[in-house]
Amino acid sequence: MSGHTRVAVVIGDPVDHSKSPAVHNAAFAASGLDWVFVALRVPAGEAAVALAAMRTMGLAGMSVTMPHKEAVAGLVDRCAPLASRLGAVNCVARDGDLLVGHNTDASGFVSWVTHAGCRLDGAVVAVVGAGGAARAVIAGALDAGAARVFIVARSPQRAAAAVALDSSRCVLVDMQRVAEASVVVNATPVGMAGSPGLGVPASLLRPDQVVADLVYHPVETELLRAAREIGAVALDGRGMLVHQAAHAFALWTGVDPPLAAMLAAVET
Ligand SMILES: NC(=O)c1ccc[n+]([C@@H]2O[C@H](COP(=O)([O-])OP(=O)(O)OC[C@H]3O[C@@H](n4cnc5c(N)ncnc54)[C@H](OP(=O)(O)O)[C@@H]3O)[C@@H](O)[C@H]2O)c1
Repeated sequence: MSGHTRVAVVIGDPVDHSKSPAVHNAAFAASGLDWVFVALRVPAGEAAVALAAMRTMGLAGMSVTMPHKEAVAGLVDRCAPLASRLGAVNCVARDGDLLVGHNTDASGFVSWVTHAGCRLDGAVVAVVGAGGAARAVIAGALDAGAARVFIVARSPQRAAAAVALDSSRCVLVDMQRVAEASVVVNATPVGMAGSPGLGVPASLLRPDQVVADLVYHPVETELLRAAREIGAVALDGRGMLVHQAAHAFALWTGVDPPLAAMLAAVET
């Protein structure tokens, strides 16, 4: 590091478990960039201070995680269209002196599954969950041309907000209709270490489906094991983690992201 080293950060609370430093520092090294990435714990309610620090200290990029994604959407100088539609920002990039909010969870979801050979254009996509990640997945799927998005959610208010992303293509359904989808996404914490379960009954999975689980700890969730056993394509959440980070990396640096190095950093 030198006086020229550029600094990017992730803000959140908690943040000490974050894999972003490993992924981004691997990407900077693989690209030969004099950049460094650190995780900073910023308590709830303090996002404005973090954004002011970004301006004052000339931070080159910022990732944003819980609990700040909605607050930061109201603090940047402007939001890119997708972030604006979602009202949530997970990446802040600079445009000259302006701070611009992006949502790379949505674009990261799309590049994750399309890189794995899955077609979203014209697809019926079933999303289980209606929280922040689910909404990003739904918006990404809609932008990528999904014909229908089935939403399975237990909280009526959150479900309604998710359907409102595009009420002509999104529909709130019972779990049973997951069987009709060609792409099935778990966007709940079910399956995480400490939160066991499938989330989607195995009887609803089909061999011609792509099953994507946002959970990445453990890498192989019960849902993904069931999907593999039935012959479906099973995608683990590390892919989304890397692809959303890759989009942030490109926005900050203007350089093509070194995906292989980023994936390797997550795998180790
Ligand atoms: N791989 C990645 O890069 C990536 C990125 C973002 C998120 N994630 C993961 O995605 C998951 C969701 O994150 P989030 O930010 O969207 O969280 P969130 O905003 O808290 O939303 C969680 C959603 O899951 C539902 N849910 C929670 N427990 C459930 C259960 N036992 N049964 C059925 N539904 C349940 C919630 O329903 P209620 O509203 O009714 O509680 C809500 O709809 C987390 O595991 C997170 O780690 C991964």
